[in-house]
Amino acid sequence: MSKSEPESVDWSALKSAAIEAMKRAYAPYSDFPVGAAALVDDGRLVSGCNVENASYGVGLCAECSLVSNLTMTGGGKLVAFTCVDGNEDVLMPCGRCRQLLYEHSAPGMVFETVSGLKTIDQVLPDAFGPRQLEEYRS
Ligand code: THU
Repeated sequence: MSKSEPESVDWSALKSAAIEAMKRAYAPYSDFPVGAAALVDDGRLVSGCNVENASYGVGLCAECSLVSNLTMTGGGKLVAFTCVDGNEDVLMPCGRCRQLLYEHSAPGMVFETVSGLKTIDQVLPDAFGPRQLEEYRS
C-alpha cells in the first residue's frame, strides 16, 4: 500500500503536528488560532500556523505557512492533510487555501474533513491549476 492511501497515513501523528502548530499561531486579532499539518510524498511531515497582521487583510492562513515550510524543506507533493482550530477540532481550509494546496498536491491527496476523508478533487472540484496554463500556452 502506498503512502498516499488513506489507510496507511498516520492521521494521529498528523493531528498532533497540527495541534503543535496551532499552539504557535499568531492570531491576536481574530483570537482564532489555526494549525495545519501534511504528509509529503517522501515521508516528510510539514506544518504551519496562521500569522495575522495589524493590517488585517495581510494576515496569513496556516496553509500559507505550511506551503512555505514545504518549499523551504525541499518541496515535494502533499499526500495527506489535516487542519485544526483552537479547540483542536478539524477545520476545513478556506477556499483560497484549497487552491494553494492544490498547486502542491499529489494526485488523490486526502483531506481529513468535518465529514470524513475526502480527496483534493472532492474539496476543489474542476480546479484551475498549472495544467490549464500549460494547455493554453501549447
Ligand atoms: N484561517 C486559517 O489559518 N486557515 C483557514 O483555512 C481558515 C482561516 C485563519 C485566518 C485567520 O487568521 C483566522 O483563521 C480567522 O479567520
